Amino acid sequence: MKKKYLHITTFGCQMNVHDSEQMAVLLADCGYEQTEDSAKADCLLINTCSIRDKAEQKAFSELGRLMKLKKKNPDLIVGFAGCLAQHLGARIHSRVKNVDLVFGTHNIHRLPEMMEAVQKERKTVTEVGFSSSLHSLGIYAPPRNGAIGAYVSIMQGCDNYCAYCVVPYLRGPEKSRTPEDIVGEIKKLARSGIREVTLLGQNVNSYGKKSGRGADFVSLLGKINAIEGIERIRFTTSHPKDLSDELIGCFGSLRKLCRHIHLPAQSGANRILKRMKRGYTAEEYLEKTERLRRVCPEISITSDIIVGFPGETGKDYQETIDMMEKIRFDSIFSFKYSERKGTAAEALTEKVPETEKRQRLKELQILQDRHTQEKNSALEGSVQEVLVEGPSRNSGRELTGRTSSWKIVNFEGHPELIGRMVPVRISRGYLHSLRGKQITP
Ligand code: 5AD
Ligand code: SF4
Repeated sequence: MKKKYLHITTFGCQMNVHDSEQMAVLLADCGYEQTEDSAKADCLLINTCSIRDKAEQKAFSELGRLMKLKKKNPDLIVGFAGCLAQHLGARIHSRVKNVDLVFGTHNIHRLPEMMEAVQKERKTVTEVGFSSSLHSLGIYAPPRNGAIGAYVSIMQGCDNYCAYCVVPYLRGPEKSRTPEDIVGEIKKLARSGIREVTLLGQNVNSYGKKSGRGADFVSLLGKINAIEGIERIRFTTSHPKDLSDELIGCFGSLRKLCRHIHLPAQSGANRILKRMKRGYTAEEYLEKTERLRRVCPEISITSDIIVGFPGETGKDYQETIDMMEKIRFDSIFSFKYSERKGTAAEALTEKVPETEKRQRLKELQILQDRHTQEKNSALEGSVQEVLVEGPSRNSGRELTGRTSSWKIVNFEGHPELIGRMVPVRISRGYLHSLRGKQITP
């Protein structure tokens, strides 16, 4: 039988990266081997993101490119998946002709049967219904050869309905997996050589709250901390309103929990936080970061910030800058507000002009770069435990890995160190990485 190749283009967050891994596993059972080369593929999937307009535009331009390949080779199967597929559903067919397969965020587990229908009946399949089951979350993706880290979804969806955000509409209501399922999956990953797990959910802090079975995130972390072979635990994303004192305490008490938290602030102005429906004030946010640093002084704190949310005045923006000056994040992801259809913010007036948003973003990023550089320079001379992930992209003789605080470290070392925890003395802190020297015992 002729070997079949699959190519997946993934846009967006870690959740999407993990969804794509699961798609690849399911299609491997249908005889598809993954390839990096889209020209050689028999099936091309695009896993899309819809969080901002720019992400949507990227997905459409990639789809356009792939459809040109299909024009040359009509046997090619083209699939459109993820949040944008969820949003558009069958409407995609009137915008782009001849897409074979369209499926949403709750239908990944049905990929083999959808693929069979496309292949055998040569018909178009569109599946974007929501399901209350968690089938798609539990698909086990065995680690790729030599992988050190793995993603584990612990919940799906979101109930927060922040005024700017489409996620609750596209990923459905919040639902958590059972601790047994999660622990079972992580034990299996550990047996296959995985050393670091990143727990995924839109708001991991509220894990288990709706289950009524007393499952909660802190006790889940405790259980994972006890799994033999796992050296590091990370999680993303946390919502500040649900960050409890118990969870903050874990950064002091759980050995394997990495000293890093991604805690999206979105804004430093109370007026804007209220309009965004975030459920906390700037003071409460600040206080939580102080508590985190009291429990764990070396913790790195990263964040997401949106500039130009409707109604954001120069004074509100200045309050965000003030917050950044007070907290000094290790790094941030920053965005211009992007209007999304169907969200509460769409109806808000006082839209901020594009030029103003651009100016604010530029200024804020310059400030953050200064803070990031200062934080990284301050690590010069310190010894960091680095979990070695592989050869460095820049130099064949170098290895690369991350500190517990999520910073990239490059250093010279023997390839047999890959997968091991290595003490490295930091010699130089750059904006996007650190350089160091292995400490030999
Ligand atoms: N416009 C700009 N940024 C957004 N985000 C989510 N929705 C929007 C939007 N409509 C950002 C938030 C969130 C991150 C994943 O994306 O900062 O934390
Ligand atoms: Fe979107 Fe808010 Fe849910 Fe995060 S918590 S996914 S920003 S609605």
